[in-house]
Amino acid sequence: MKNYTRTTGLMQRGIDFLGSETAILCGAMSWVSERNLVSAISNAGGFGVIACGAMDPDLLDKEIAATRALTDKPFGVNLITMHPQLFDLIEVCEKHGVGHVVLAGGIPPKGSVEAIKGGANPAKVICFAPTLALAKKLLRSGADALVIEGMEAGGHIGPVSTSVLAQEMLPELAEEHLIFVAGGIGRGHAIAGYLEMGAAGVQLGTRFACATESIAHADFKKAFFRASARDAVASIQVDARLPVIPVRALKNKGTEEFTAKQREVAAVLDREEIAMAEAQLQIEHYWAGALRRAVIDGDVENGSLMAGQSVGMLKEEEPVAIIIDKLMAQSEDALTRR
Ligand SMILES: Cc1cc2nc3c(=O)[nH]c(=O)nc-3n(C[C@H](O)[C@H](O)[C@H](O)COP(=O)(O)O)c2cc1C
Repeated sequence: MKNYTRTTGLMQRGIDFLGSETAILCGAMSWVSERNLVSAISNAGGFGVIACGAMDPDLLDKEIAATRALTDKPFGVNLITMHPQLFDLIEVCEKHGVGHVVLAGGIPPKGSVEAIKGGANPAKVICFAPTLALAKKLLRSGADALVIEGMEAGGHIGPVSTSVLAQEMLPELAEEHLIFVAGGIGRGHAIAGYLEMGAAGVQLGTRFACATESIAHADFKKAFFRASARDAVASIQVDARLPVIPVRALKNKGTEEFTAKQREVAAVLDREEIAMAEAQLQIEHYWAGALRRAVIDGDVENGSLMAGQSVGMLKEEEPVAIIIDKLMAQSEDALTRR
């Protein structure tokens, strides 16, 4: 990679923490972030993260080994906190000496951060912080770094935009802690802005989902290239008792079916046939299945096309190395012109 001294200078703390050439993480994307994309990102100077999502410990074991075979650069593993085998998955990461574990999907359950940091092969823990109060709590509980992710992002989202989260959190936290900013980043000029505000680095998902090395189906990629920002809409909750974490995806028949799925689960709740936690798990499984249909099978009608608002800036398939280089060059250009 070329020398982008201003950008890497501002990223230095993030670079030291991740052990990568740049502090650009490719956020884990279920079904998309597997061995090929993750190794390509890390080989190109970014930081790839395996999406464990719906994997069981055996599958994760194989995926980490296969990724290692493709890169000798550091990469992380993203674990969903509500996974019923979370602690077994942590053991798999420990066995492989994974350096960084990202805990997503809610507050880490008791003992999980300790388990990641305390084993024979301690890893660094990265958590998502939806509010300033929770950010402080997570840092007190042992999180080594935080991702703050705005509602522009693809996949599961919170209610607040990236620009507001960044203004709220970075001045309070960024001097002493490592904060990575995610959500809606499509170009390096935005990266420069967040770095200047104190971010240690950034995380992007949508921008990398359709890279050449991504195994996503050609029709999935085509749908992304055709879409504009306003096509990436947040899902709607239909039942007050069933708090659904909104998901941002390209609108299609599948987004409508999600509404029907919620009604179906709510009816089962009405009949008191399942507990709330189980109901929420069913919703999560729905997304995992629907995303697989779109990413792997290319069913862009009924599957879930999770995408952030930056999707409108994607026009063509590009190799990861080109994307990272463009982002760095744009950031450098912005900083140079200041
Ligand atoms: C197709 C897709 C699947 C995703 N799956 C996950 C996931 O399994 N776990 C997770 O923590 N985040 C997931 N995300 C969020 C990304 O890791 C990343 O934080 C987000 O895409 C950043 O925002 P951006 O899309 O605006 O770049 C997903 C995003 C997309 C687009």
